Amino acid sequence: MTNTSAPPLPSSPPAPPRTSDPVLRGPVRGPFLPPGDMEQAVTAYHLATSPARRWDVESAVDWSAADADRLTDGQRSAVRFVTLIEDHLPGYFAVYTRRFPLTADVDLADFAHHRELYHFTVRWAVEEDSHARALFRYQTESGIVDADTLRRELAVEGRKPFELPHDDAVALFAYALVQEKATQIYYQQLRAVVGDPVLAELLGRLSRDEARHFTFMADVVERYLRVHGDAVVEPIRDVIARFRMPLADTMRGYWRWALRIADTARYDHTDAYDHLIRIVNRAVDARTDRVDELTRFIAECRSGAAAPA
Ligand SMILES: [Fe+2]
Ligand SMILES: [Fe+2]
Repeated sequence: MTNTSAPPLPSSPPAPPRTSDPVLRGPVRGPFLPPGDMEQAVTAYHLATSPARRWDVESAVDWSAADADRLTDGQRSAVRFVTLIEDHLPGYFAVYTRRFPLTADVDLADFAHHRELYHFTVRWAVEEDSHARALFRYQTESGIVDADTLRRELAVEGRKPFELPHDDAVALFAYALVQEKATQIYYQQLRAVVGDPVLAELLGRLSRDEARHFTFMADVVERYLRVHGDAVVEPIRDVIARFRMPLADTMRGYWRWALRIADTARYDHTDAYDHLIRIVNRAVDARTDRVDELTRFIAECRSGAAAPA
């Protein structure tokens, strides 16, 4: 359904930076994985994305059956929330291109690594963009909102910059590991309670994609620990110490909204921490004091655990 009376999108000048806008950072520092290791992780991801597992927005679900009348207010609110998060893909993708640049001033060895990573990033971006499109389509087809209103809503948040407060390469992968797993878990939880089977089907597809994204990041972080050991412990610890889900610091009303969607289906990013601990344990054969301290710290940051000392 389309509301043709909606006002046109504003053609305003670029928004001036707000004091809360994150500072965009330059290239991350290494150490990086040897390019051959990154290639192996990327190949495993592509293998897991076999043609049989791919899907497209146009035919994945029966859009004509989408019906928001079968959703509670809380479920509708959750769909609107995750649409905003997924729709920020240009900002997330820009992090990879800005921080793992493929330009003339990058030294050859680093360039070779970044080029391998790019084979992941572009495929991942296509998948994430399809999540944004599918959720947009769901909202409009089911009658939650008309397309013009939704486009305006997404544009307000979409043009805000996005950055991660880390400068070590491994930290960006560890961040994505937690975020992808947390998103997968939330989609599974939401899928279990929603009243519209079309939405349930869609959330199933999204959560399976997020599971593959998590697996790639887990593979990369595990390789980092195997290759670089204690040298990457501190950046991983820092990710957990400062963790915020995407847009938590920039989206208007984020925290109140996040609490509300947690009423609809369990939403706790620290659910993903056990998976990170498992990766660390699997990667490290000979445990060191630093690794022990890392896993202890991650466990302490889990919701419901005793407060970190
Ligand atoms: Fe996604
Ligand atoms: Fe994802």
